[in-house]
Amino acid sequence: MTRNNEAAMLLIIIASVLTCSAADFSIVTPNASVSAWLGSSVILPCSLSPPLNARDFEVQWYKKKDSQKTVLLHQEQKVQENDVDDQYRDRVSLIGELDNGNVSLKLDNLKTADRGEYTCFVKSLRWYERGSMNLVVKAIGSTPVLSYQEAGEQLNVSCTSDGWSPKPLLTWRDSTGRELTNTYTKYITDSEGLVDVRSWMLFSPSDSEWISCTVDLNLQGMKESRVVPMKSDLSGGFWFEVFISTLVLSVIVIIIYTILLILHRKGLLPHCSSRKNAKAAADSHESLPGETIPLKATENLHQGVCSTYEPSDSTEQQSWKDRYKASLTLDPSSVRRL
Ligand SMILES: *[C@@H]1O[C@H](CO)[C@@H](O)[C@H](O)[C@H]1NC(C)=O
Ligand SMILES: *[C@@H]1O[C@H](CO)[C@@H](O)[C@H](O)[C@H]1NC(C)=O
Ligand SMILES: *[C@@H]1O[C@H](CO)[C@@H](O)[C@H](O)[C@H]1NC(C)=O
Repeated sequence: MTRNNEAAMLLIIIASVLTCSAADFSIVTPNASVSAWLGSSVILPCSLSPPLNARDFEVQWYKKKDSQKTVLLHQEQKVQENDVDDQYRDRVSLIGELDNGNVSLKLDNLKTADRGEYTCFVKSLRWYERGSMNLVVKAIGSTPVLSYQEAGEQLNVSCTSDGWSPKPLLTWRDSTGRELTNTYTKYITDSEGLVDVRSWMLFSPSDSEWISCTVDLNLQGMKESRVVPMKSDLSGGFWFEVFISTLVLSVIVIIIYTILLILHRKGLLPHCSSRKNAKAAADSHESLPGETIPLKATENLHQGVCSTYEPSDSTEQQSWKDRYKASLTLDPSSVRRL
């Protein structure tokens, strides 16, 4: 009797130990999103608790949407490459120690299409369990570009920035740091899944010295641009005046050059030698006194264009004279650069 009881007890204990160790495990995954930069590698953590040896288990990683794409399948003690979806081919591996129940997935060269919910499914002979997590693919977009145009008494300031992932946050602030809320923002997802942001707002230059537009991903990868609209922008503005002055100056310079050129061609310029003489002088490597006056005139007018050129010896002098001739034949674009 007692022997039988003992044997029965032993069987029960063995059975329960076997059942416990073979059956009960749970899956541990992060309860927050996993995020990584576009193009980088990411580890999607997943492990068994208790840390059973998972080498003989079936481990499957799949993506929830997209009709359950198989990201990776580990079966019969190896990864079944043929079952991997094309989107993930050659980019996935089991990185953890399977012996210790670590079935974490490594995904390389992240693409925007990789974002979404991933599930890790582990199956032993008598038990299975799964856990999921969300993958966020991050990308920092371009520095915001600000522009503005008149809108009655105010300025319509717009801010654009492209190439973010996920959807960024766009914030307008005035020079006191106060957030401006009367703004209109829209998001456009491009063909690669990156998000472009466009925003505009009406602004009175008298309200603030400047305003800034900031785009960021939850304070990560922050990009900011500022605009300092001048009151005079409403009536033409400072830059318009600068533009007109530059234009007028350029026209005057062009006219003076043209007159000088005509006079020179006709040989009406006092102390100015003819082309033939200049050429002869160049050939003989001599400097005729008659040449110096137009040369100086050229130098003065060409300040900033040719002023760095300093002939140092007689061989260079030849090309220097060639250059001088070239500048007399006047390239209008070099004049505008003044
Ligand atoms: C997520 O994990 C934190 C600790 O890491 C815990 O405090 C929190 O309750 C968990 N949230 C959920 C929904 O399990
Ligand atoms: C599983 O392995 C990965 C990669 O080596 C590691 O980052 C992670 O911390 C491991 N997880 C556990 C629970 O040990
Ligand atoms: C401001 O400019 C944006 C384009 O940059 C335009 O869509 C919007 O209608 C303009 N708003 C006003 C009030 O002019």
